[in-house]
Amino acid sequence: MTSKEIRQQFLDYFASKEHRIVASAPVVPYDDPTLLFTNAGMNQFKDVFLGTGSREYKRAADTQKCIRVSGKHNDLEEVGHDTYHHTFFEMLGNWSFGDYYKKEAIQWAWELLTEVWKLPKERLYATVYKTDEEAFELWKNITDINPAHILRFGEKDNFWEMGETGPCGPCSEIHINLSDNFEDASLVNAGSPKCIEIWNLVFIQYNRDTEGVLHELPAKHVDTGMGFERLCAVIQKKNSNYDTDVFVPIINAVSKLSGIPYEKEEEMIAMRVIADHIRTLTFAIADGAVPGNEGRGYVLRRILRRAARYGRKLNLNEPFLYKLVNAVVDNMGYIFAEIKNNQANIEKIIKAEEESFNATLDRGIELFDAVVKKLKTQKLNTVPGEDVFKLYDTFGFPVDLTNVMAREAGFAIDEARFNELMEDQKARARKSTKDKIANAHAIADNLEGFDMISDEPTQFLGYETLSSDSKVVGYKFEDGQGLVILDKTPFYAESGGQVSDLGTLTIGGKSFDVIDLAKVNGKVIHIIDNKDNAEIKPGSDAKAAVDETRRWDIMRNHSATHFLHAALREVLGKHVQQSGSYVGPDRLRFDFTHFQKVTEEELKEIENIVNRKIRENLPLNHHKDTPFEEAKKMGALMFFGDKYGDKVNVVQFGGYTLEFCGGTHVKNGSQIGMLKIISESSIASGVRRIEAVTGSGIEKYIEEQHAKIKAHEVKIAELAEEKRKLEKEIAEMKLKEKLGGIDSIVSSPVSVNGISLYKGKVEASNMDELKSMGDELRAKIKSGAGLLISQIEDKVAIVAVVSDDLIKDKKLSAGKIVGDIAKIVGGGGGGRPHLATAGGKDVAKIDDALNAFEKMF
Ligand code: ALA
Repeated sequence: MTSKEIRQQFLDYFASKEHRIVASAPVVPYDDPTLLFTNAGMNQFKDVFLGTGSREYKRAADTQKCIRVSGKHNDLEEVGHDTYHHTFFEMLGNWSFGDYYKKEAIQWAWELLTEVWKLPKERLYATVYKTDEEAFELWKNITDINPAHILRFGEKDNFWEMGETGPCGPCSEIHINLSDNFEDASLVNAGSPKCIEIWNLVFIQYNRDTEGVLHELPAKHVDTGMGFERLCAVIQKKNSNYDTDVFVPIINAVSKLSGIPYEKEEEMIAMRVIADHIRTLTFAIADGAVPGNEGRGYVLRRILRRAARYGRKLNLNEPFLYKLVNAVVDNMGYIFAEIKNNQANIEKIIKAEEESFNATLDRGIELFDAVVKKLKTQKLNTVPGEDVFKLYDTFGFPVDLTNVMAREAGFAIDEARFNELMEDQKARARKSTKDKIANAHAIADNLEGFDMISDEPTQFLGYETLSSDSKVVGYKFEDGQGLVILDKTPFYAESGGQVSDLGTLTIGGKSFDVIDLAKVNGKVIHIIDNKDNAEIKPGSDAKAAVDETRRWDIMRNHSATHFLHAALREVLGKHVQQSGSYVGPDRLRFDFTHFQKVTEEELKEIENIVNRKIRENLPLNHHKDTPFEEAKKMGALMFFGDKYGDKVNVVQFGGYTLEFCGGTHVKNGSQIGMLKIISESSIASGVRRIEAVTGSGIEKYIEEQHAKIKAHEVKIAELAEEKRKLEKEIAEMKLKEKLGGIDSIVSSPVSVNGISLYKGKVEASNMDELKSMGDELRAKIKSGAGLLISQIEDKVAIVAVVSDDLIKDKKLSAGKIVGDIAKIVGGGGGGRPHLATAGGKDVAKIDDALNAFEKMF
């Protein structure tokens, strides 16, 4: 039987028992910040078990995509070394929400395994919680399991808890013993690959409170989970999950790429690691995660690097993982369309990440080898924490990668010292970013110590109104701050990139500033400034008022991200996926997948489209509480949604934007005003960031630009003035230099009839300059007549001077001299006796004119 058939038979079986078949939630749980990845089928029903949400059906079944990268049975470094643990796997599950209970859960599980799939009953074992008589008796009475195969275990194995607090209960597991010794009950829960758990039936009947006390729930639920890959191995009679049709095509692809057969243990391990990890990467990226430095991005980076390093063992030194995405898509795209739809994108992200890792991998390995060599000569067997830290900090080697490398070389690592160094680094970072708000969040991250009169989730009014008359239902004072829970509130607590509202709460006639908000278990905690520790009692009336101007600015920016998202997809292509966003009152930031710089022209086009669409005044159509499947059918973009539970909010503007979104929005597009992109940059390989402003942000932007232009104008005027000054200085300097040339004329007069004559050709730029030269000449001679001629452009300029004594005694006149000389060069002129200028046209005659000068006396 193929894996496809097995999955389908599971779903068909539970459909026949009146279960609603639901879609898998994404592996990236956008609405649950406490969870890095979806790790169990029940995640999407968490709110139902907590009593804060409901569904329109009482029974459900699905196959859930899960990622588990830590935990006692699933340390990342074990995956691939054994044959039945994975970082990505499918969990087949069926649920009862206050409907059927232990009897049906046990009966149907047994029937499906032994009647439908005909698993050998003699190999099956059931475990029950040590005091769960009911489950014990049910196994004994309603199934034909060998009673000796019903075993009791304690809390560790048979009490399932979602977390430290919350819904929990005893569970009953079904194990299969595939060893020759299948009557040996001691193999159950002993960690043998021959005797493994395949199905866990959890009977949710308690809620564990913060004191650790169990309270009986009013409704009892069933939550089951079966490991799909293990089940396939059992049904297909394979010794290893990797030998089933779930993995064989991927293993074959690795083998083909490397040219190495799947035969030798060490190479088989490498191939299993790669086959496992490529599934995780493919699914996580398809659901919007990207390798990075923090949170789930960092987990993905570790997984990718681990796989890349195992590739080296198969001589795969160039980027190769991205080439395996196709095998995963071929094998699983039929059931999970998201990997098929995003294939090109997934490949690009993986390739870019491989390329950047390859650049440091070799250098890191070099350092590691050097360390190992040194340790060997020193006869030591532990890699010091300092080196582990350096590999991490400088070369990006995750500690588990270093650990695996060390183990392979026969060394341990000093993880304690490494952790110390990490803590030091974190403490340094904390110190530098510590602020009031971060502090407030730390205070309000749980509901411990609250004086509470209601356990209902806070009703959110903030889509419709920005103020409300509410009631205080919970209160706690800490560190000068009051933490207030209201029955209903218009305040939006940060989610999906949209920042928290600010505003005031008025309680008992006193007004308090709301400085931040936190959300815990569906309750909105208003963090107020209450330095004087004014008394606030649950039950009191509270007037809640959101800062409206600020909220409108936020809404404009939020709605604008939807327009921007649509325009990006229109201009750049459908591979554009949102991978993060920030929506504040002052600006918006939108991160998305794209592989090159967005060009100036593209940005212009995107901005133009958004603004044109804004002007179309598209009305908001807010589809609240829409069934998930219906929203999907509508074609809503599904990245950073509000809630991927059963009911979702879909935000639509006209026919242009359609997105899953829990945020708050303007009532029609034109209220955004306008969008102005202010920057475009790269934030990780294959991820770009656009920053933009809208509404009042544009006013501020224009004012800033205006101030800049003003400042530039002033600067330009200053520069022009300076230029003018410099030009003047240069002209003066040049003139001075030219006047210096007069000296040689002054020092070599010709004497004719007792009159000293000074003459020469000079370089003047204009008539004024020539005149100045004449003045200079006249000032320097005691007695005499002078003639200076210059060619200015293609004309002749002449100046003549006569000293006062000659004017008086000899009746000489510069005006007359210049007039006669000018005639020679084809011009005319005249003037006063002491200095006169004239012009002419015939530049070829300048020398003749100068010669004629002495003949005049
Ligand atoms: N929620 C249960 C598990 O994860 C079924 O094992």
